[in-house]
Amino acid sequence: MKSLAFEIIGEILIIRESADDKILKDFAKEKMKKHTYIKTVVLQTAKVQGQERTRELRYILGSQNLETIHSEYGCQYLLNPLDTFFSPRLSFERQRIACLVNEDEVILNFFAGVGPFSIAIARKQPKCFINSIEINQKSCRYMKKNVELNKCEDIIAIYCGDAFEIIPQKFLNSIDRVLLPLPMESERSLPLAIKCLKGGEGTIHWQITEHLDSKDIELTMVEKRICKSLSKESLESKLKIEEYRVIRWIAPRIAHIAIDLKLFK
Ligand SMILES: C[S@@+](CC[C@H](N)C(=O)[O-])C[C@H]1O[C@@H](n2cnc3c(N)ncnc32)[C@H](O)[C@@H]1O
Repeated sequence: MKSLAFEIIGEILIIRESADDKILKDFAKEKMKKHTYIKTVVLQTAKVQGQERTRELRYILGSQNLETIHSEYGCQYLLNPLDTFFSPRLSFERQRIACLVNEDEVILNFFAGVGPFSIAIARKQPKCFINSIEINQKSCRYMKKNVELNKCEDIIAIYCGDAFEIIPQKFLNSIDRVLLPLPMESERSLPLAIKCLKGGEGTIHWQITEHLDSKDIELTMVEKRICKSLSKESLESKLKIEEYRVIRWIAPRIAHIAIDLKLFK
């Protein structure tokens, strides 16, 4: 049987490579037989796109219900992969960041989706507070349910709307750690994130995409990208690049990269 690229979100298997219908159905049957927890198989017919980072899916086999609960590192995320962004391939990155958070930190997640970064942090470090912003109303509704499902209501505040409108009114000079999990807005979000840091000091988890010719990331590339996003005036603090790593490959030679920045006076 032909093997096809796929990912699994909860009880839904998403085939990520097109083929003729018989091949798709045979593949779906085989997977459902082998992994009995898979209840639905769909085909992703277009890349993740638009401001809300959603995708098009076509039904192949099983139940038509596209709402599912995905479990990851002891957290549960209810979502519908047609209406909301979610990627199991970010699970390690979520845990990596969650492990860095200290007690009493105030965190701001610009682009929270259904809540996985915020909830992973809240579960790991219950003595912090996380402000989570999301523009997609459906993702926002799922995030509210997920915060309840994972019992983090006391330490996660949800704001439904545009981060670039909400943040300048509410979060300037008040945050210890900022999460920017949207490479598409990497340049616009970094200067605003810096303005949010309390006293100009704190940590920013920046995400970008970049063409890479090898598996390694050049420090000079990271520096160039920072310079492109920040004017000299927007940088009153000192900036240190603490860490950078490939999160995943999103196309041949196109890497989704995490960069940890530390700012201090
Ligand atoms: C790449 S997804 C990441 C979501 C989540 N952090 C995760 O890892 O699953 C980016 C999210 O940002 C949201 N978004 C895009 N532009 C936004 C904006 N201006 N303000 C708030 N949220 C925004 C999208 O709807 C999407 O849910």
